[in-house]
Amino acid sequence: MHYRRSPDLLLEWQDEAGPVLVDCRRWRRFTARPRLLALLNALDRPLTTEEIHARWGGSAPNGEGNGEAELAATQRALDQLSAAGIIRSSAHTVQAPQGLTPYELAAHARAGHGPAANTQQGSPPPARLRHPDSTETVRLTDSDELPSRPLREVLTERRSIRDFASSPLPLGHLAVFLARSARVRGPLGPLGFQQTQRPSPSGGGRHSVETYVIARKVSGLTPGAYHYDPFDHTLNRLAPWDDELAAVLNTTVTMPAYMEHPPPASLLLASHAARTGWKYEGLALSLIYRDAGCLLQTLCLTATDLGLGACPTGTMRPANQIAFLKCHHDGLLHVGNLALGIPGPDRDIAGRPVGPRSS
Ligand SMILES: Cc1cc2nc3c(=O)[nH]c(=O)nc-3n(C[C@H](O)[C@H](O)[C@H](O)COP(=O)(O)O)c2cc1C
Repeated sequence: MHYRRSPDLLLEWQDEAGPVLVDCRRWRRFTARPRLLALLNALDRPLTTEEIHARWGGSAPNGEGNGEAELAATQRALDQLSAAGIIRSSAHTVQAPQGLTPYELAAHARAGHGPAANTQQGSPPPARLRHPDSTETVRLTDSDELPSRPLREVLTERRSIRDFASSPLPLGHLAVFLARSARVRGPLGPLGFQQTQRPSPSGGGRHSVETYVIARKVSGLTPGAYHYDPFDHTLNRLAPWDDELAAVLNTTVTMPAYMEHPPPASLLLASHAARTGWKYEGLALSLIYRDAGCLLQTLCLTATDLGLGACPTGTMRPANQIAFLKCHHDGLLHVGNLALGIPGPDRDIAGRPVGPRSS
C-alpha cells in the first residue's frame, strides 16, 4: 500500500488562523501544522508506511518514535489522514488524472455555499456600462424586416460554422442579430437600474456579460472594435482595425476554431463582474459562466434563424491584454467569443465538405 498527498488540496491563509489546508473536493478545512505540511511535502510521490515511518521516525505527524508500536501508531495516523481525505492510499503508484484542478474544484464547491456574508455593500454597479473612451457612436437600425423561422427548425439546423463566405456581413443583419439576441427589453422589477430584462436569462437579472464586436468586414461599418450598448442599441467605437486587433481576432476565434480564414466579424463577451459579484460574491464566477453560456446559445440560435453562421469559442484572455478594453481593464473578465458571418460552403470540423443543410 502506498500513500500520496490528495491532489485536491490547496493552502490558504486565514486572518489570525495561520495556514489552512483546504480539501477543495469535499470543501473541508484543516489546520496546517508544520509537521503535517512536511509530511505532505514528501507525499507528492507514493511512499509506503515503512518509508514514511523511516523518514519521520520520532517526528512523524503523531510525534512518536521508532519500533513496532510506533510503526503501528504511524499507520493509525496515516489511516486518519486517509479517512479525512488529506492523503490517499492506493495499491497503484500512478494517480489517474482527476479532470479538475483544485482551483476548479474550489470555485465549484464555494459556489455551492451561496453568497458570502458581506455582500451588497455600498451602491450596486449599474446595469449599463459606459465607454467614455468611445470615439464614435453608430446608431443601429430599429427596423426588423428580416424573416424568422419556427424554433423547431432553428434548433434542428443550429450547428457551429467555421467557414465563411468572403462577402461582408451586412450591418443590417448585425443590427437585427444584436437586437433580437442581446437588446435590453426594459427594467426588471423595481430595481431596474440594476436588473434588466433581455432575451437570455441571467442570474439575478444582473446581466454582467457585455458584448463587444470585432468588425473586420461588416458592410457599412468602419473596421474596428465596438462596444454594443444594449440600452440604446448602438455600437460605440473603441479601436481602429490594426495588427493588434487582427491578432485579437486571430487568437480568440480564428486559431481556436481551426478556421482557414478569419471570420468577417466576431463577438467578444466580457463580464463586468462586479455587477454580479456585488450581490453574489462567492458564487459570482459560476453565475457569470452560466450567464455566458445562456447568452452564447441565444446568439447561436439567433444567428441560425437569420441564416448567419456562428461558432462559439471558449478562449479567454486577461482583459488587460485586450487593448480595446483598456477603459475597464480591472473590472472585466473575458468569458467567450462568437465568430459571425455569412456561412461559406458547408464543411465539417475537419474542413471536409458535407451535404446540403436540412431545409
Ligand atoms: C463554451 C464553448 C466553447 C467552445 N469553444 C470552441 C473552440 O474553442 N473551438 C472550436 O472550434 N469550437 C468551440 N466550440 C464549439 C464546439 O466545438 C461545438 O459546439 C461542438 O463541436 C458541437 O458542434 P455543433 O455546435 O456544430 O453542434 C465551443 C462551444 C462552446 C459551447
